[in-house]
Amino acid sequence: INWKKPGLFAAGVAFGTAGIKILTSDDAKKLYTNCTAAVLRAKSCVMKTATSVQENAGDILAEAKQINEDRAAEAEAEVVDDYCEVAEETEEAAETAANAAGTADVADKKVGISIYKFDDNFMTLYRQELQRYLTEDLGFKAENVVIQDGKGDQAEQTNQINNFITQKYDVLILNLVQASSAPEITDMCKEAGIPVVYINREPDEAEEQRWVDEKINATYVGCDARQSGTYQGEEILETETKGDINGDGKVSYIMIQGDPENVDAQYRTEFSVKALTDGGMEVEELLMQRGDWDQAKGQQITQDALTQFGEQVEVVFCNNDAMALGALQAIQAAGRTINKDIYLVGVDALTDAVQNIVDGNFTGTVFNDHFSQAQEAAAQAVNFLKGEEVEPVN
Ligand code: BGC
Repeated sequence: INWKKPGLFAAGVAFGTAGIKILTSDDAKKLYTNCTAAVLRAKSCVMKTATSVQENAGDILAEAKQINEDRAAEAEAEVVDDYCEVAEETEEAAETAANAAGTADVADKKVGISIYKFDDNFMTLYRQELQRYLTEDLGFKAENVVIQDGKGDQAEQTNQINNFITQKYDVLILNLVQASSAPEITDMCKEAGIPVVYINREPDEAEEQRWVDEKINATYVGCDARQSGTYQGEEILETETKGDINGDGKVSYIMIQGDPENVDAQYRTEFSVKALTDGGMEVEELLMQRGDWDQAKGQQITQDALTQFGEQVEVVFCNNDAMALGALQAIQAAGRTINKDIYLVGVDALTDAVQNIVDGNFTGTVFNDHFSQAQEAAAQAVNFLKGEEVEPVN
């Protein structure tokens, strides 16, 4: 464990461009967050981690050589505290949003939700928060919030959406299997007079423009993945060697990409590397491969890359934490040590990833705020139900 430099934790969420950027801690952690009471619940689990780090450090205080560890533990706890502080500050705003939404009469409204596939760590957290927020905070009846598994199959998902339409759902929240199917799906919903909120996989700009031009009740809620990509690159720049562990003047990396149906994969790939070059580093791409957001694929790709390129690999960029968790398994199996002879960054801030940062087994991650995104998606669905005007992108 490299205690000199505790793990990096950057947080990023954007509602379009309207987030609030808060710069905290001397590690230049970036928190971009929005109102969420739910983050407070995340807080307690993250806090637990920090406490255990502190306790461990406390046990071994007697030994002088542990002083560094103690300091690192404190620094880590500070980062977590920053995270929590922002969460607390935003709780109030969340309540206001819930109250505003609560004034709409939603008790008998039916919300149809389809997730591109249930077997995705991040989208699982996202859908749990959607369900919770719609029912607990916004007052929808549990039986009126139906969530379907698109199973990674667009034909299957289109069927589900057709069923929602036939059953006269009042509003749909859709995480498309193929973002490119948005025009077809939007037209189906439009014809039936059902508003639609797209999440996580952004339809292209032309489609979003069409909603404006044709006054279609459709909108997209999501994060700007350029930002999370940039933060990943910055996290590498903030390491002792700026990613150039072997000192040969360039950062040699492998890039494990998500499924390109989500534009996040392209943006994170492009902007993580751009942050490095903007920071004055030369880069060498050893390998770029699709891991489809999947842990097992992340592990396999990393294992093969380490066999092929060995010590040359200085940085493993993963478009999400699930793939980074897989990469970590391969890195450890190959006898490499994170933050010493290799760096590893992901996106999402899954609990396992945050734990790994605390343990020194991840260099960094970026908070992809599923709480705020779920709540914003729900709020826009309510806006449609209230007949309010909704921006095409939120
Ligand atoms: C998340 C990934 C997730 C993907 C699904 C991304 O924004 O970072 O973890 O698998 O969305 O589309």
